[in-house]
Amino acid sequence: MIGSGHGIGQDGIEDMAIVMESSYSIDASANLLRLKVWGELTAESLMELLNQARADPEYVPGMHAVADYREAYGNWDYSEIQRLRDYLVHIAVPCEVRWAAIVKPGNLAAAGHVLILISEAVGSDIRMRLFEEPAAALRWARGEDLPKANMSHEFLNGRVQVCTGDITALRVDAIVNAANSSLLGGSGVDGAIHRRGGGEILQACRELRATSYPQGLPPGEAVLTTAGNLPARYVIHTVGPIWGRDQHADALLASCYKKSIALAANHALRSVAFPAISTGAYGYPKDEAAVVASTAIKEALSQADTIERVSLVFFSDADRDVFLANQRF
Ligand code: AR6
Repeated sequence: MIGSGHGIGQDGIEDMAIVMESSYSIDASANLLRLKVWGELTAESLMELLNQARADPEYVPGMHAVADYREAYGNWDYSEIQRLRDYLVHIAVPCEVRWAAIVKPGNLAAAGHVLILISEAVGSDIRMRLFEEPAAALRWARGEDLPKANMSHEFLNGRVQVCTGDITALRVDAIVNAANSSLLGGSGVDGAIHRRGGGEILQACRELRATSYPQGLPPGEAVLTTAGNLPARYVIHTVGPIWGRDQHADALLASCYKKSIALAANHALRSVAFPAISTGAYGYPKDEAAVVASTAIKEALSQADTIERVSLVFFSDADRDVFLANQRF
């Protein structure tokens, strides 16, 4: 798909273009967005071009990008850079995305360096780097310099992404908590979510206990609360089966994934991140959990069109690799 922004003609104008002229193309099979920008570059015009690209049916959140600014110029002050930084933080998706910029030494390169510094300081999931030549930019954006184990892994046309990290850091619509029936906190992911999210989450859980779930949340069920101070908007609490104790553990684990996705869809959420439910303190074998989780997610997504992105977040590369070897997407 090719699009172009600000295509104001320059016929008859001898000077350089006054208005930015630009185009984008999407290479879905390589998970790559390409931008080519000519003329005067402003944060506003760049954001507009990115918005156009993001509205393209072929765009998938989490695409890597290569932007060629060698024919562009601009006098960027700090407020301009800051505006673009805010936009990038706003559109950041879970898991690392690589955006390479090809620039000539000069104003834009200097602005780019400042942008990288302040964006990384606020922990945006978009990693940026400047290059002077396209081939190196493309190699980096495609992650070709990474050891294989660090590559991101996608399934179901990019609707599912598998990665390694701390789920509490993700800026998604909802992160799922591997809770226990009490809903009042515990160790593992549950502990991390309550610690980082603050008392507001616990308060919401207490209210649920006092109203809808006086006996606690049964295994396989899911409820939604505020995310307190977390970067995510909501937390979906679900209770996985305890291996060796709960009967029909596979059906219960599948239910955790399906009900969490259905709940997110009912709240018009678009991105959800899951930890590997039940595979820690609750002892579910990781290889078997991979089969159950992937099958359940695939089925749930087939009935939840509005969910754009499910991220499966593993705490270690080893756990992620067990999942990748056993998944059934
Ligand atoms: N981000 C992503 N994954 C994590 C994180 C994190 N911050 N922390 C741990 N994991 P567990 P369960 C991984 O034990 O098995 C609690 O006490 C971890 O490595 O958190 O469903 C609850 O209150 C493991 O692979 O959840 C319950 O009582 C996975 O998340 C009980 O544990 C799940 O491990 C629930 O046990």
